[in-house]
Amino acid sequence: MKLLKKISLGVVLVFVAMQFYSPTKNISPGNHTKTFIIETNPSPELKAVFETSCYDCHSNSTTYPWYNNVAPISYWIASHVKEGKEHLNFSEWETYSIDKKDHLLEELEEEVVAAKMPLTEYTYLHGNAKLSNEEVSALVEWVTQTRIIYQLGKLPK
Ligand code: HEC
Repeated sequence: MKLLKKISLGVVLVFVAMQFYSPTKNISPGNHTKTFIIETNPSPELKAVFETSCYDCHSNSTTYPWYNNVAPISYWIASHVKEGKEHLNFSEWETYSIDKKDHLLEELEEEVVAAKMPLTEYTYLHGNAKLSNEEVSALVEWVTQTRIIYQLGKLPK
């Protein structure tokens, strides 16, 4: 057998073998971001923005696209979700201190104003996740209002 043929066969075999392993899915039933929503009180429009543009990587429940059934794409998605959740997990808002919540909101504003979030790899395939200018302004306003509440909470009693 020619070397090239052997290499191609090897690549195909590795690809097939990969399909037997799929990373554990990030799925939680029910209202997993309840505390975040009650505490920060976003408008229905902003709530929808979080659902469409952020929760897939920043919550305990991801809505998976069909191509998540194909390795190594599934590995790549799983690593984004893992990393996103390590930085910010809206489903675990109750576990953060007031300082951390305040800081995360500051970061959130910076990321959306600089158009760094949602990640371009994501908006490329999820066109509706891209934030409009109006959505960014609404997020900034919501961050300002919510941070005032957290800052008041940090004042000595
Ligand atoms: C495709 C996955 C994905 C989506 C969708 C996504 N993020 Fe992220 N996000 C990440 C990853 C990965 C990181 C960490 C690495 C980095 O900063 O690039 C991150 C980091 C962040 C951080 C930084 C937190 C810190 O500790 O500094 C903020 C804030 C953030 N994202 C907010 C958002 C918001 C708000 C949305 C929705 C508008 C969003 N992200 C959508 C994957 C995602």
